[in-house]
Amino acid sequence: MSRFFIANDHAGLSLKGAVVEHLVARGYEVVDLGTDQSTSTDYPDYARALANKVAADGTALGILVCGTGQGMAMAANRVKGVRAAVCSDTFSARATRSHNNANVLCLGQRVVGLGVALEIVDAFAVTTFEGGRHAARVAKFDPV
Ligand code: RB5
Repeated sequence: MSRFFIANDHAGLSLKGAVVEHLVARGYEVVDLGTDQSTSTDYPDYARALANKVAADGTALGILVCGTGQGMAMAANRVKGVRAAVCSDTFSARATRSHNNANVLCLGQRVVGLGVALEIVDAFAVTTFEGGRHAARVAKFDPV
């Protein structure tokens, strides 16, 4: 069962709380890297902190929540070994795990409703990478 790191900015605080509760209820280990404050924060700081943890761990998954998920993904993808994907639907969540070996899910609290967000989290959590032809493609993400 996957271990999760999770982080958010002020615009993702309430959805982050719901996602943590949801994952813990399903038996996952969740490490919350904050913020736990609603005061304005800079999302790249949280994206980088989480991305470094996921990259160092090697097997854990990450979830980043901000207003849109977009800025978090851009910042997290600067860290080698991180494959962060913004998902607003369950098909994309499954596909980005199975084809792209995404290891960080980025959610937008201002974009997706709570019910959809938790279904996206479930899809991301249970789907595994297919490997094969997809592994060769993912290997091309990093220049040699
Ligand atoms: C904060 O206002 C907002 O810019 C941030 O949460 C995120 O949506 C950035 O991508």
